[in-house]
Amino acid sequence: MLVSAKEMLDKAKAGHYAVGQFNINNLEWTKAILQTAQELNSPVILGVSEGAGKYMCGYTTVVGMVNEMIKELGITVPVALHLDHGSYDHCYKCIEAGFSSVMFDGSHYPIDENVAKTKELVAAAHAKGISIEAEVGAIGGEEDGVIGKGECADPQECKAVADLGVDFLAAGIGNIHGKYPANWEGLSFETLDAIQQLTGDMPLVLHGGTGIPADMIKKAISLGVAKINVNTECQLAFAAATRKYIEAGKDLEGKGFDPRKLLADGTAAIKATVKEKMELFGSVGKA
Ligand code: 13P
Repeated sequence: MLVSAKEMLDKAKAGHYAVGQFNINNLEWTKAILQTAQELNSPVILGVSEGAGKYMCGYTTVVGMVNEMIKELGITVPVALHLDHGSYDHCYKCIEAGFSSVMFDGSHYPIDENVAKTKELVAAAHAKGISIEAEVGAIGGEEDGVIGKGECADPQECKAVADLGVDFLAAGIGNIHGKYPANWEGLSFETLDAIQQLTGDMPLVLHGGTGIPADMIKKAISLGVAKINVNTECQLAFAAATRKYIEAGKDLEGKGFDPRKLLADGTAAIKATVKEKMELFGSVGKA
């Protein structure tokens, strides 16, 4: 059964570890992440971007696939199904469709409008027992066609949004989606520390988990980060494994590639990536 992400993240914040949010794109991605979480006895959050939701035939299809997979695979660890970077309209769609968590990304609105819309969505999500994440300060880089500049969040604005009753808060601290450029200045721990001082027990979220050095991840967790999002690293691992399979020429005597064997290699690569991240984030054995 799907659960809200609130309890698992409150526990993570109190226990000084982070739960990974891994984005899903299809059946193989989902299966790989669920099986790894179960094997490692770790809570997990499945992230769905609006683009991935559309690709997978809509949010109700995603909810059906994930719920049935949890049953078929005998998954007993806590699993949250979370809309990633949702617009106002799509938060409502996911609340209706049976997601157990949503993120409202109102960071591009003026702060007053972000506050008003977040407040309304908090009430709608909580009425159904669904957790909600909000964002302050843009996360840099491109994700699903949405380009963010990557500015650091204002700690006072973070406090204002945290006080609206959101369950966890994404704050820009110099993090970027996708690969980090060679001249990246690193995370702003000064900003993170100021945010955590003002927001107290609120679990903080670090987007752009791909390519952040392990020591920075650990420091971020020590300063209140309890959820870390990873997408690009799974994509890179999947692409490398499937490319290798094709280049090895394992086709079926002119009949093309066996899709299940090809995708099994990609799935194994995602599993290895998810395992490495869960170990780094400290969520292994915390289910
Ligand atoms: P990466 O693509 O950098 O791993 O970030 C994922 C993310 O933050 C999803 O919201």
